[in-house]
Amino acid sequence: MMKFLRLLGEWGAVATDLVSSIAPVDWVSLLAAIIVILIFLKLHQHGTRRRSSKLQQHKLPPGPRPWPLVGCMLQVNDLPHKWFANLASTYGPILYLHMGSLPYVIVNNAQMAKEVLKTHDMEFASRPRSMLGEVISFGYEDIVFRSSDAKWRALRKICASNLFTPSGLKTTTALRQEDMLFMVHCIHAAAKSRSIVNVKRVIHEANLNTMCSMLFGKRYFRADGKLDSKGKSFLDLLDLLVAESGQLNLGDFIPALKWLDLQRAEKRLRKDLKQALEKFFFSKLAENRKLHCTNKLLDGKESHLLDFLQSLKGKESLSDKTIAGILCDLVLAGTDTTSVTAEWALSEILANPHILHKAQEEIASVVGQERLVQESDLVNLPYLQAIVRETLRLHPALPLGIPHYNSVATHLAGYTIPAGSTLLINISAIGRDPANWSHPTQFNPDRFLGSDIQLVGEHFHLIPFSAGRRFCLGYPLVIVQVPHVLAALLQTFDWSLPAGKRPEDISMQEKIGLACYRAVPLEAVASCRFPAAPYLSKLSENIQGS
Ligand code: HEM
Ligand SMILES: *[C@@H]1O[C@H](CO)[C@@H](O)[C@H](O)[C@H]1NC(C)=O
Ligand SMILES: *[C@@H]1O[C@H](CO)[C@@H](O)[C@H](O)[C@H]1NC(C)=O
Repeated sequence: MMKFLRLLGEWGAVATDLVSSIAPVDWVSLLAAIIVILIFLKLHQHGTRRRSSKLQQHKLPPGPRPWPLVGCMLQVNDLPHKWFANLASTYGPILYLHMGSLPYVIVNNAQMAKEVLKTHDMEFASRPRSMLGEVISFGYEDIVFRSSDAKWRALRKICASNLFTPSGLKTTTALRQEDMLFMVHCIHAAAKSRSIVNVKRVIHEANLNTMCSMLFGKRYFRADGKLDSKGKSFLDLLDLLVAESGQLNLGDFIPALKWLDLQRAEKRLRKDLKQALEKFFFSKLAENRKLHCTNKLLDGKESHLLDFLQSLKGKESLSDKTIAGILCDLVLAGTDTTSVTAEWALSEILANPHILHKAQEEIASVVGQERLVQESDLVNLPYLQAIVRETLRLHPALPLGIPHYNSVATHLAGYTIPAGSTLLINISAIGRDPANWSHPTQFNPDRFLGSDIQLVGEHFHLIPFSAGRRFCLGYPLVIVQVPHVLAALLQTFDWSLPAGKRPEDISMQEKIGLACYRAVPLEAVASCRFPAAPYLSKLSENIQGS
């Protein structure tokens, strides 16, 4: 039984640390459930047989034979990554299998990804439903979890045009520059005492500051690393969201068990999490609306996304639920993904000292040491850009993307995909496909120097942001934010490993949750390259003054 549960948990590859990833189960209800399963088994088998004879006229993609009700969940052994990798080598680049009673299709190479995201883009542009998705999205009033329709398209457009167009990005450049200064200052303090830097933390705090100030004009972390009490409750909420996103709900996979609510998901998600989200976001909305009425917006100039969303009038106006759903989406989609990417990049750089030196030389020659690197420098830093691309190839933040879904039966590469299938694109497998990449597991930024490979979904063998109409909305921000963070870290500091560690000791093991994290957090020691750099002392003055 333990094993069965563990297996269920292992699926999805969303969960690494199996046993701990699955939400706690009520054992008495589980026993009851087993009895129910047994009773329904015969009935279900009957249905399966009838269905499969009907499907014979259509060709399903190859895949392992499902068990009734639990699908392939029993066959996933202790190493889900290995199991799926084996499936791909047994059945080829497109697989069909059942997880619980839900049909899944997994595609594993560039050509199949192109079929899904280009040729049949529209048919696969929906999203499967899940209890967690419903709660996070305030009832699918959002962008990430909403199936494609006119409203989804409108919301994407509103956010993209406000935040991510070149002019939208320009209005927030100064704010991001300040966050980089804050980050550098934090590390500077650690460098002076030669203490070990928790790289993930400093990067993440900088990204969160950037994201929250762009979204609702609030920086939760001050440069001295302190948080106010509101910041604390925001971080707790984020932690809760990230933890829930790394868990699986049996009820989502085996709808027949939903009513039993084995993991108390109803209460955890529909009640506790929902309340916490509503409390935070609705009070944020009310607070901001009050500001509007009193003083702001007199000059009609919006300063952040929330201002803009609340200022929409008439036919364009948005409900509080929709505004909250959008903010929650962007915080969730935009922070961990960006942070892990920068952390992976620095890990690879420290594991390969020649890359570190080459990148530092490039930055020093382009930027010098008088001022901190700015976003406008990035176009002159091709090697740094190549490092970021190589990181996105080898360590895509969302290795299986975000699930797609077809609401009607669809033809794909000569097969029929039944309506209601969940479709996963194995972005990680595509970036490491030996058919398209030489020495695929080697971190080698040089492969991108002078290459015309784009990240925007024209070259389907490199699709860290996916492609087609669901293409990552935050892409324009990511491609400035990640290299900017790295450039600031490499320009200001020399990096070494804690005593006794060699570059080849840096583990590249992954831990999958909401994003693809490092299993072992990167620890490094920073020392100031140019202690007399004017921007370092200027910052200290600012901090002391504030
Ligand atoms: C390194 C960082 C990031 C990576 C690798 C990444 C990757 C992705 C991927 C693979 C998808 C799924 C697309 C699909 O369904 O086919 C996605 C969707 C999305 N991303 Fe990103 N992302 C990153 C950062 C961001 C940031 C910073 C934001 C916003 C601030 C963002 C906002 C979104 C949104 C809103 C969607 C959903 C789009 C939709 O469903 O229509 N992402 N991202
Ligand atoms: C995706 O591809 C990777 C690398 O080939 C593999 O290890 C993993 O098992 C695959 N995941 C799924 C769900 O197919
Ligand atoms: C990727 O590999 C496949 C199989 O060898 C090939 O057909 C395709 O043209 C390759 N694409 C690129 C861009 O290299």
